[in-house]
Amino acid sequence: MGKDVIVACDFATAEQTYGFLDRFTGEKPFVKIGMELFYAEGPAIVRAIKGRGHRIFLDLKLHDIPNTVKKAMAVLSRLDVDICNLHAAGGLDMMSAALEGLTRPDGTRPLLIAVTQLTSIDQRRMEEELLIRRPLEEVVMTYAANAKAAGLDGVVCSPLEAGKVHEVCGGGFLTVTPGIRFADGATGDQQRVTTPERAKALGSDYIVVGRPITGAADPVAAYRRCMAEFLD
Ligand code: C5P
Repeated sequence: MGKDVIVACDFATAEQTYGFLDRFTGEKPFVKIGMELFYAEGPAIVRAIKGRGHRIFLDLKLHDIPNTVKKAMAVLSRLDVDICNLHAAGGLDMMSAALEGLTRPDGTRPLLIAVTQLTSIDQRRMEEELLIRRPLEEVVMTYAANAKAAGLDGVVCSPLEAGKVHEVCGGGFLTVTPGIRFADGATGDQQRVTTPERAKALGSDYIVVGRPITGAADPVAAYRRCMAEFLD
């Protein structure tokens, strides 16, 4: 899969989600389904959106013992999504087990990417609450290297970290990057934001964009602007 814009469908119900997706008559955006929508509507929403022809990043961030994650991933593999994810903090064994579980009997599988450190965790919290007393960037790069060693396909990270991740893990290791805002848009609760154009220059493979598209007066125009800035 090449570079693309993934639209974060952070809606509470299927009705709202379809209302949003129905506006796209000319294109089929790559869609991210997160915990809220999945827990509200279950696997049926994933099958329905897939049935409408969208590619799907199922953002459930699994984190448990290896055997449990392996079995859960085997269930998710049957949903035919394109990207799944987990927390690298679950360790190498958990990531390897997840990959095994995700691999279908015919050898195919969705891409599997890892969350390194959540962007809600800063240096102070990591040190004082998690007792990880190392520079945040070192932790992020070590977790990315662990994900690579376990055979995963990439990480979720800031566009600002994409270049370094590619340096450490190779150019083919995917960087999926949220925290995207238009130059003239509101930042909301995102702290460090990057425009689609800048994310492209920094080497992001996929940008994840929520409110700048879902909250726009004309979401289709906002999506097209994002695609043009990121891909052209
Ligand atoms: O609306 P916005 O563009 O901020 O949405 C970004 C999406 O990316 C949300 O679904 C958010 O949960 C997700 N995300 C993030 N930062 C991370 C990981 C995921 O913003 N580190």
